[in-house]
Amino acid sequence: MKAMKIHVSECIQSLIPYVPGKPIEETQRELGLDRVVKLASNENPLGFGQKAQEALQGALGELHRYPDSSGYRLKKALSEHLGVDPTTLVLGNGSNEVIDILIRTLSVPGDAMVTSEAAFVAYHIGGQTHGLAVVETPLTADLRFDLNAMAEAVAHTPRTRFVFIANPNNPTGTYVSEGELRTFLEKMSALPDGGPMVVLDYAYWEYVTASDLPDPLKLQREFPQIFVLRTFSKVHGLAGLRLGYGVGHPDWILELGKVREPFNVNLLALAAGEAALSDLEFVARSKKINDEGMSFWERELKALGVPFWPSQGNFLLIDVMKGFGKSGKEIFEECLREGVIFRPVINYGLPNALRISIGTPEENEIAVLALKKIAQTV
Ligand SMILES: Cc1ncc(COP(=O)(O)O)c(C=O)c1O
Repeated sequence: MKAMKIHVSECIQSLIPYVPGKPIEETQRELGLDRVVKLASNENPLGFGQKAQEALQGALGELHRYPDSSGYRLKKALSEHLGVDPTTLVLGNGSNEVIDILIRTLSVPGDAMVTSEAAFVAYHIGGQTHGLAVVETPLTADLRFDLNAMAEAVAHTPRTRFVFIANPNNPTGTYVSEGELRTFLEKMSALPDGGPMVVLDYAYWEYVTASDLPDPLKLQREFPQIFVLRTFSKVHGLAGLRLGYGVGHPDWILELGKVREPFNVNLLALAAGEAALSDLEFVARSKKINDEGMSFWERELKALGVPFWPSQGNFLLIDVMKGFGKSGKEIFEECLREGVIFRPVINYGLPNALRISIGTPEENEIAVLALKKIAQTV
């Protein structure tokens, strides 16, 4: 095509794009493999539940209609499920979109956000895209968010509009405890104007087993500057439909409603989300398979001598440099040839680690075999 001069701002030009997990079909095509196991995107290995399936089938006949822009039924179901008022809810095309709407609505170029190194990358991408300064504090030695350092960063960055905390974080799987979070929130509350919005991203909340990882909605009653993010992409298995939501003060929600695209959540997602919420059996089964899969991986990794960071999500970060003397990219590529897709995390500044999503028992077995094969060659 003929050369053309385009105008792109410096913040977009220097943006490092999101790198998604490698798709199964692409891997099959490129490597000529029949069977490929994908443990790369923290998806639900069981798929999604019967109730969501039935709701989707029922909604198909309505696809010529625009979806309900207010999301009335889903918000009603969510408000009952969570014990919050519907006026505190905003729906998004994935929680990723809610992050974007927050930034677009509540900040202007030149403002700032504070998060941690190796935090879920959507915060950085959203901030940089909209011209915010993104301040990332170093992780602790055990790959956790350092809330003291983050509080310091907020204090030294006058135009901080947001703090982003993923609890647990992806890709590290590590978390901040109730005590740490309370101390941090008290410091924020003491700042002029009550401090910045503190976004608590709880995409993996349903999988959490640690008793000191706090319920964000309970904390929010005490600290109204909290904005909670949740998603249907993980335990509900609806990643492909794109559905997430935020819970925050109604004054914020009102402003977000002006900025979001009126039909940002599609009709199928609204129907499936409502049904998925009521499918307690599917959620329980998904949690159980994750708990069992996590124990299986922990056992196998110990036996293989591969260190890992204990995780509160549906994934596990492993130290392949210590385990195999190879980088994350090398092990990722070797496993691909065995028909197993993991996730390298170089873009998170973790070149020596690899992220493994928990799969079905069969997928986990196949993936462990791939690692065992590599272990024999080093
Ligand atoms: C911490 C965290 N937040 C948010 C998301 C995005 O979820 P959604 O699919 O709802 O956009 C993910 C997805 O991997 C995640 O790991």
